[in-house]
Amino acid sequence: MAQAIDGLESVVAAETVLSEVDGEAGRLLIRGRTLEEIAGRWSFEAVTGLLWDGFFPEIPETLAPRLGAARQAVFAEVSAMDDTLAGRTAVEAVRALTARLADGDDLDLALRLVAAPAVFTAAVTRRQAGHAPIAPDPALGHAADILRMTRGAAASPAEVAALDAYLVTVCDHGLNASTFAARVVASTRAGLTSAVLAGLSALKGPLHGGAPGPVIEMLDQIGSPANARPWLEGALDRGDRLMGFGHRVYRVRDPRADALKRAVAALAGGSSAAPGRLALAEAVEVAALAVLRERKPGRSLQTNVELYTALLLEALAFPPAAFTCVFAMGRAAGWIAHAREQLAGGRLVRPQSRYVGPRPHLAA
Ligand code: ACO
Repeated sequence: MAQAIDGLESVVAAETVLSEVDGEAGRLLIRGRTLEEIAGRWSFEAVTGLLWDGFFPEIPETLAPRLGAARQAVFAEVSAMDDTLAGRTAVEAVRALTARLADGDDLDLALRLVAAPAVFTAAVTRRQAGHAPIAPDPALGHAADILRMTRGAAASPAEVAALDAYLVTVCDHGLNASTFAARVVASTRAGLTSAVLAGLSALKGPLHGGAPGPVIEMLDQIGSPANARPWLEGALDRGDRLMGFGHRVYRVRDPRADALKRAVAALAGGSSAAPGRLALAEAVEVAALAVLRERKPGRSLQTNVELYTALLLEALAFPPAAFTCVFAMGRAAGWIAHAREQLAGGRLVRPQSRYVGPRPHLAA
């Protein structure tokens, strides 16, 4: 039997029309559009329509009103949040509330599964801060309503644009760990809710979508540009990984880092706190890349999406504990597109393992 491939590195496990991650050129395509073409230009609803086109019997011209109605529909589940759930981490609480949605495969459920992380994250973070949840406003765009439900006040157009740019930037990214998990579950025909829950569970790990919260801790501990190099060297001496750096596919800079850095810089123009933070992050980035080059010369470790994700979500006043959930708000659109693509053409995903354990004693 063939050797197992650790981490399935370089294994091509699916064909997709949804996105292409070119790790050598540092380029991301979403259904034929470059990231630069859509991030900061298209709304999240429009990109969700682009991803889902052809994977449901009919996609309306604009998904915004249907997504607004879906936010309203899932808000009813928020009443199930008891003290036990509210005491869990944000992503665990959001996962539990999402699991209340029945399984199925239609467009209405797909929209509710995109609405779920948005509505539940806002409700959970408010509850954890001692505030009552705020009901969705279906007339607003998705990004605007997420910020309003989270804060209890309308966000500025610049903030809405920044969150829209973020959601679009992270909506899909090839066969990453959470998308693969979603496709495996979809391949068993378990239903879209199950596929999204699988994606969310994979996303929460610190090597995947759980990284941006720890990025904030790193920036806080470093404190000033002068402290960046000694702090980073100390972390590597302890055997820690530097959060926000390294990627399985990219050997050059992750193009999403630049898309998000642009969004942070645009937002910083109207905010007093962000410019100093951006300068600190840039200094940490320069120092980290230098230290990683010295310590890991055989591997091209570059900035990934999470460094500037952390900065952007912090500037939008999301609590770091909720960052993974905000990632899920965007990526849910991709999980669902992949689940539908898997259902449309893919077989049951069932690879093999190579047994290396003990064999029963065979009598001579
Ligand atoms: N800091 C320090 N060392 C690193 C880092 C890092 N951020 N990333 C990789 N390495 C080292 C590993 O220790 C390993 O060294 P070794 O060969 O001496 O043991 C080598 O580089 C290769 O590492 P792998 O684990 O094989 O790389 P892999 O492709 O499996 O890992 C990953 C990719 C998980 C993203 C990794 O780079 C990492 O842990 N980064 C930090 C966490 C992070 O930022 N995650 C978000 C990724 S983006 C996303 O998922 C949305």
